[in-house]
This record gives sequence, structure tokens and C-alpha cells, in this order.
Amino acid sequence: MATQTEAAHVSVLLNEAMAALAPRAGGLYVDGTLGLGGHSEEILRRSSPDGRLIAFDWDAEALRRARERLAYFGERLTIMRRNFAEIAVALAELGVSGVDGILVDIGMSSLQLEHGGRGFSFQRDEPLDMRMDTRRGQTAAALLASATENELADIFFYYGEERQARRIAEILVETRKKTPVQSSRQLAELVARAIPRRFHPPKIHVATKVFQALRIAVNGELENLASFLADAPALLNPGGRLAVIAFHSLEDGLVKRALKTNQSLAEKIKRPMCAGDEEIARNPRARSARLRVAEKI
Ligand SMILES: C[S@@+](CC[C@H](N)C(=O)[O-])C[C@H]1O[C@@H](n2cnc3c(N)ncnc32)[C@H](O)[C@@H]1O
Repeated sequence: MATQTEAAHVSVLLNEAMAALAPRAGGLYVDGTLGLGGHSEEILRRSSPDGRLIAFDWDAEALRRARERLAYFGERLTIMRRNFAEIAVALAELGVSGVDGILVDIGMSSLQLEHGGRGFSFQRDEPLDMRMDTRRGQTAAALLASATENELADIFFYYGEERQARRIAEILVETRKKTPVQSSRQLAELVARAIPRRFHPPKIHVATKVFQALRIAVNGELENLASFLADAPALLNPGGRLAVIAFHSLEDGLVKRALKTNQSLAEKIKRPMCAGDEEIARNPRARSARLRVAEKI
């Protein structure tokens, strides 16, 4: 039985991603972002009876739940707690030199956002951790305490495309002289105060971009994606597909460039695939999803 949380996480662009990967019996695939296992389950189903999947995630809780959900596939599924940036090393450790398709669906799962307890959501009051892999790296609270005003402004501006980045950084630095900024509610309120009312966006929460920016910085998301994109093409067998679902323009820009410039890849579609109205109505998170696909020559 699916729990409330699992039922609530809807895999984005599921049919499009499957059409892109075209899983088949006997194939070997990688899902770099297992999450709650929606895409993985579909890859395994469509590659029945003997297709195999190697799935990575760096979040222990996601792995625990996905492992339970997908246990019925038995030995067809190998799960690893790894950063997908380490795909080349991880596959080499398994003795795998080529696979028939690789998918990544980057960003956060609804489990992390709503039940993570790690300060990903501005709608909750939780400690500002924001690490998806809690084994290593600096928490968001530690970053907010140690970065200079300029560094903070750059993070908010470049990773969040937040126009009020300088002002927010200034207020943050003023605030932390008196009280450390350690909870998601505290940060959300501080951002709301820092941005003049007339600049509050009409459709999204005023702190959305700052939270996104911090999460990207804490998890090194762009660096991980860049390493992955540099290594993944060489791991594909001829005819193998690389499918990447990105959620904001910085990521999508990296993907677009990598697929265009890598000599061993041919783009399957020129424009990214997006969710239709019906999917967006069912799952608002799909609104910003962009799927790009290339094939190994
Ligand atoms: C959007 S969810 C994936 C949802 C999944 N496709 C599904 O259908 O359930 C993204 C997942 O990727 C994981 N993730 C993000 N960046 C990662 C990285 N660099 N290495 C490994 N896992 C990562 C997150 O922990 C999260 O569980």
C-alpha cells in the first residue's frame, strides 16, 4: 500500500521520459535520481522481464522508501546511495562499462519539501539544513552564518535570479549580528521584510527564489549536474539515450549546451518537452519541468 507521501509524489513527464528512454527487455538503465521511485518503477516495468536498473539517490530517506516500494523487482534493481555526479566511478565499481539509457530528474522530491524536516519549505518552521545528503557539506544555516554579504547576494542573484538579492543579503548580515538565522520561518519572514511590498511577486511566495538559491548552493547542484553531463555520454552504449528533466533555466541551460556540443550525442528533439495543461493541473510542480533527450551515436 502506498503511504500518503508516496501517493502525493507524482513523477513528472513520466510518459515523455519513457518515450525518450524507450526501455526494452534485456536493457540496462540508470536512474540517477531515484526519489520515491516513480520513474524507476516504470523503467523496470517497461523493460520486463529481464531489463535491469541501477538507481542512485543521495537522500537516505528517499532510498529507504523507494527500496521498499520497488522490492518486488528483486535482483533486477541495484540501488546505491551516491551522488549522480559520481556516475562514472559508481558504474566502474559495479564493473559496468556501458548502459542503454540514463535518466535524471533533478531537484527535490515532494517528500523532501513536505516531510524532510530540513528547512526546504518556507511554509514550515524547521531547522535550516537543506542538505539532501546529510552525510556531508555545510548546512544552509552554516552558510548563512559564514558567507560574506557579497557572497550571499551573488547566491541569491545567480541561483535564484532574485532582483532584490543585495538588499536581502544586507538585511541578513545586519540580522545575524544580533541573532543567528537558523530556521526556515525566520528566513522567510526576513526575506518578506527585506523586499518592499510593492516588489512582492503576485503568484509565488516572496521567499521562493531565496530558498531555491540556497538549496542550489548548499547541494552544489549546478556543479553536480555539470560533472554528470561531462561523464554520462561516454557511459552510453551506441543508440543509448540520455534524458534529463530540469526545473529552472540555469540547469536547463547547462543541459542544452552539453547535449548540443557533445560530439558523441545527437539531440532527439530540438526543443525541450514540457508538461501539458492536464499534467500541470494534476501536478503544479510540472509547470517548470523541461525534458531534453539525446542519443549516443
Ligand atoms: C525530483 S526527485 C526524483 C523523483 C523520481 N524521479 C520519482 O519519480 O519519484 C529528485 C531526487 O533526486 C535526488 N538528487 C538530487 N540531486 C542528486 C544528486 N546529485 N545525486 C543523487 N541524487 C540526487 C534527490 O535526493 C531527490 O530524491
